[in-house]
Amino acid sequence: MTDQNKSADKLWGGRFSEPTDAFVERFTASVGFDQRLYHHDITGSVAHATMLAEVGVLTVDEKNQILAGLQEVRAEIESGAFHWSISLEDVHMNIEASLTDRIGITGKKLHTGRSRNDQVATDIRLYLRDEIDVIADELARLQLGLLDLAERDAATIMPGFTHLQTAQPVTFGHHLLAWYEMLVRDAERLQDCRKRVNVMPLGAAALAGTTYPIDRQMTARLLGFDRASENSLDSVSDRDFAIEFCSFAALLMTHLSRFSEELVLWTSAQFDFIDLPDRFCTGSSIMPQKKNPDVPELVRGKTGRVNGHLISLLTLMKGQPLAYNKDNQEDKEPLFDTVDTVKGCLRAYADMVPAIHAKADNMRIAAKRGFSTATDLADYLVKKGAAFRDAHEIVGKAVAFGVAEGRDLSDMTLSELTQFSDMIGEDVFDVLTLEGSVQARDHQGGTAPDQVRAAAVRARAKLRQ
Ligand code: ARG
Repeated sequence: MTDQNKSADKLWGGRFSEPTDAFVERFTASVGFDQRLYHHDITGSVAHATMLAEVGVLTVDEKNQILAGLQEVRAEIESGAFHWSISLEDVHMNIEASLTDRIGITGKKLHTGRSRNDQVATDIRLYLRDEIDVIADELARLQLGLLDLAERDAATIMPGFTHLQTAQPVTFGHHLLAWYEMLVRDAERLQDCRKRVNVMPLGAAALAGTTYPIDRQMTARLLGFDRASENSLDSVSDRDFAIEFCSFAALLMTHLSRFSEELVLWTSAQFDFIDLPDRFCTGSSIMPQKKNPDVPELVRGKTGRVNGHLISLLTLMKGQPLAYNKDNQEDKEPLFDTVDTVKGCLRAYADMVPAIHAKADNMRIAAKRGFSTATDLADYLVKKGAAFRDAHEIVGKAVAFGVAEGRDLSDMTLSELTQFSDMIGEDVFDVLTLEGSVQARDHQGGTAPDQVRAAAVRARAKLRQ
């Protein structure tokens, strides 16, 4: 084969007089990673060919040949027998070349009125739309697991923290519903992002549109897009929809990472608030006693790469002039890895969360240890007529006494307490207990067990919608 023939082998080889440098060929190829788009690439081509036949650019016979050929290509890829060629650069040209091998000259007509620029933008949107739906389901499964656990532990008392210092008692169910609320917002962001993903760029062609009498509404309908895009230059150049998805993912992972951090703390011997089942943990090769919370640790760690992918895509986009630039080929690996990582983390969490076991006795001891009902005593004094600042001062002194004695407020006698204020009466013990403290926060959004149960019921109803 002469050099000239070699360059003519390329689907774009016409104007070239020497073959592509062997390294440049490998350097510029994307088929190693974009082959994962094959299904959506073929789906897009089927719709495009169908539309071309409807408007008379292809004959019905040509369209039928193309559709049959594409089905063969799809089957061959799915069987694992398809040969992906680096010299054919990307998934689009590999599939088109294979189609032409099968059906001859008609295969070369598929690309009429289209460019790889609108083709790849369409493929990524179709791919991402499907993955968003999978991720939304997995997220809902995790949310349901959190609701189940929150209801089970609606009355389990633990210390609530600020500055990681014991602050006030809360119910474990209430704490879990805080994680639930973060995930609600993540799920909303995902659905909002989906609206902008589900817009069809096909028809933009290389950048300016096409001279063929295409029917973009028809293609959009065939592919399940909400609408066709408004501007051809914008359609082939921007990847903001992928950036938006990655920013959803970064926030979700940031939430899961914070949650992970708590699970890691809570499983430590120092906290000992929860048990994770053995199947979600691993041991140490040297220390026989170890049971490590690997799943939460890995999820916390993987947050770094997802956050990094968001920055990669933002940086990829920031200097690009209109319209398509080859830079955009670099959008795929960060996006794909984000999708894979988020799916993996959600799956692990959705499986693990319902199996978390709260060690209620340890949580209770910890809640008592840190004078967590001090605010309740101050509120009690205010209700008896003290000004809040004076009440704060009185309770501060009682706590100092407790620290010196090594005893919680609820373990002091009435006469010990009345040293600090004569407003204190026998009824003080109703508010100094952990149960009294959480039950008193009995309003929407508060930590009382009944409020937690009611919040879980409301959340479940919304999740089903
Ligand atoms: N592989 C390319 C990408 O991922 C497809 C589009 C190529 N377009 C072009 N004009 N070279 O972006």
